[in-house]
Amino acid sequence: MGLIIFVSVLLCVLASAPTSNGWGPEGHYMVCKIAETYLTSNARKAVGDLLPKDAIDLASVCSWPDEIRKQQKWSTMLHFVNTPGVCNFDYNRDCHYNGIKDFCVVAAIKNYTEQLETYQHSPTYNLTEALMFLAHFVGDIHQPLHCGFAADYGGNIIPVNWYDVKTNLHRVWDDNMILTRMIDSFFGDLNTMAEELNMEINSQASV
Ligand SMILES: *[C@@H]1O[C@H](CO)[C@@H](O)[C@H](O)[C@H]1NC(C)=O
Ligand SMILES: *[C@@H]1O[C@H](CO)[C@@H](O)[C@H](O)[C@H]1NC(C)=O
Repeated sequence: MGLIIFVSVLLCVLASAPTSNGWGPEGHYMVCKIAETYLTSNARKAVGDLLPKDAIDLASVCSWPDEIRKQQKWSTMLHFVNTPGVCNFDYNRDCHYNGIKDFCVVAAIKNYTEQLETYQHSPTYNLTEALMFLAHFVGDIHQPLHCGFAADYGGNIIPVNWYDVKTNLHRVWDDNMILTRMIDSFFGDLNTMAEELNMEINSQASV
């Protein structure tokens, strides 16, 4: 009994820890699955060339930056940006971390875009990593709470009930909404869901 209580308390603490994750793996997978369909043939070749050897496609490695966060702590602050409780973003005011300037998701997108522009011109950086970071951060910045308020850690400490699950506002966006739709409408199949979303994007673009 004591152990069960201990484990549930531990789980609650872990669940409410104010970490700012990106989309969950499903969200990132679909963002990249859809993005791949819009690559020009040159871009497709370059992506194929830069992917890690064992990767199936870009989508399969788009969560890599989340997987290495624990080992490469410096990269954690590159997944988001917070404002001091206001609904506008000011690069000079907001894009920093602990006094380090130009350190946030916006700076990271610029950083890795610039690195990738050196492709075919003696790159100094690991462009495989640059590609995986860029594909991931462009996904992250479209999660509304990745540009949130510093005081509530981008919604991470706002408790919310999602149906009968206790979660937080940040996580509702990262995971809960996606997983519910995936299970309710697509028999849990991510690829079908990505195709459907892509069709919706196209039908809106052509209106
Ligand atoms: C830019 O990329 C390099 C290589 O990964 C990294 O060391 C540096 O912290 C990055 N800076 C930003 C703002 O993304
Ligand atoms: C580039 O980064 C990838 C992913 O971390 C790694 O597997 C690969 O060995 C690196 N390449 C070089 C030349 O360091």
